[in-house]
Amino acid sequence: MTAGIEVREGIYWVGVKDWARRSFDGLIPLPHGTSYNAYLVRGATKTALVDTVNPGFEGELLAKLTEVTDPARLDYVIMNHAEPDHAGALPAVLAAAPRAEVVLTAKGAEMAVRLYRVPEDRMRLVKDGDALDLGGKTLQFVDAPFLHWPETMFTYAVEDKVLFPCDFFGTHTAEGLYDDEVVDLTVRAQMYFGAIMMPFRKAGERALEKLSSLPIELIAPSHGPLWRHPERVLTLYRRRTAGETLHKVVVAYVSMWGSTERLVRVAAEALLRQGVQVAVHELAHVDVSDLAGELVDARAIVLGAPTVLGALHPAALNAAHLVRTLRPPLRYAAVLSSYGWGGGALRQAGEIFGPTGIEVVGTVEVHGAPGPEDEARAGALARTLAAKVTG
Ligand SMILES: Cc1cc2nc3c(=O)[nH]c(=O)nc-3n(C[C@H](O)[C@H](O)[C@H](O)COP(=O)(O)O)c2cc1C
Ligand SMILES: [Fe+2]
Ligand SMILES: [Fe+2]
Repeated sequence: MTAGIEVREGIYWVGVKDWARRSFDGLIPLPHGTSYNAYLVRGATKTALVDTVNPGFEGELLAKLTEVTDPARLDYVIMNHAEPDHAGALPAVLAAAPRAEVVLTAKGAEMAVRLYRVPEDRMRLVKDGDALDLGGKTLQFVDAPFLHWPETMFTYAVEDKVLFPCDFFGTHTAEGLYDDEVVDLTVRAQMYFGAIMMPFRKAGERALEKLSSLPIELIAPSHGPLWRHPERVLTLYRRRTAGETLHKVVVAYVSMWGSTERLVRVAAEALLRQGVQVAVHELAHVDVSDLAGELVDARAIVLGAPTVLGALHPAALNAAHLVRTLRPPLRYAAVLSSYGWGGGALRQAGEIFGPTGIEVVGTVEVHGAPGPEDEARAGALARTLAAKVTG
C-alpha cells in the first residue's frame, strides 16, 4: 500500500523510496538506497506536481497522486531538473494528465524535447523570479544552473516557505522522511555534496546567496529526507561551497607488493605526529562517495601509487582523475611511489595535478622496496606537508 504524505497543508510528498538501488550513474554506491521525492502542491484553483520519479516507478507515483487529486485535473508539472531520476516519469504523467503543462527553464525545454519528446505546446518556460498563482499558494522559480545540470532551477512555495531544490541539499538514502529521523544525516549529506555538487561550488555559492533573501522553513529536496531543520543543511552547504578546509590530509593509496604502502604508513604517522587529521583510503576498494565526502574539507592529499605499465596504477589514476574533475578545495599534494624498471607514475601524477592549481609539495619515488633512507625521505616530506597544512 502506498500513500502520499501531507508535509504542509496542501503540500504532499508523493515520491518513491528505492530501498534496493545499489548504485547511481555507475559511479556512486548507494548502501542505503535512495528516494525520488516528488511533491503535489494544491492551491484553491490550481494544482502542481513538483518533479517526478525515476523510470520504473511511474505506477507508484500515479497511485499516490490519485489519492490526493485526480491526475486528469493536474495543471502543472514543475521540471526543476531534466535528469531521468526526476523527469523520467514525465511521459507517463503527461499521458495521465492531459491538461498539464510542464514548467521549466529554456535549457530545460531543450532537454525535455531531447530526452522525453515533450511537445512544445505543453511547455511553459519560466525565468528567474517568475511565479505561478495556484490560488492561495504561489510557486516562485529560482534560476539555479549547474545544480546539478545546466538547466536546473529551484521552486519556492512562497506562503508556506517551502523550498524544492531538487538535487541540491539532497542525500542518497531511502531512510526517514525528515532530517531528524536519520542518524548521521549530515555526514551522508556531505558525501552526497562531495560526489555531486563539489564541482559546482561557485554555482552553489551563487544559489545560496539568492536563497538568503527567502525565509525557508522546510527544504524538500528530491533525494533523501526533508530538512525541517533547514539550518543544518544550509550551514553545511555554506561551509562546503565556500571551500572551508580543516588541518586535514587525505592519504589515498594503492600498492601491489607493499613498497608504496610502507612509504604511506611512514608518511601517515608522521602527519599524525604533527597534529594533522589524517584519513587513509586504500584505493583498490574505495567507494567514490567515501573518497569524495572526505575530500570536501581536506587541505591536502597524499597520493600513493606504484608504476603499472609506465603509468599510475589504474586505481590511483581513477582517484587522481576524480580530484581533477570533482575540484575539491585541496591546496597541496605529495606523491609516494615505487617502480620496478622505467617508472612513469610520478610523471603522470604531475600531468594530472599540474593544471589543477594544487601545489605538489614534493614526491618520493623508490626503485623497488624502500630502505630506511627512503622511509626517512617519506617522513620528511610528510613533515613539510604538515607545515604547509597547518601554516
Ligand atoms: C602489472 C605490473 C605492471 C608493472 N609495470 C611497470 C612499468 O611499466 N614500469 C615500471 O617501472 N615498473 C612496473 N611494474 C613494477 C612495479 O612498479 C614495482 O614492482 C613496484 O615496486 C611496485 O610497488 P608496490 O610494492 O607498491 O606495489 C609493474 C608491476 C606490475 C605488477
Ligand atoms: Fe541530477
Ligand atoms: Fe537526482
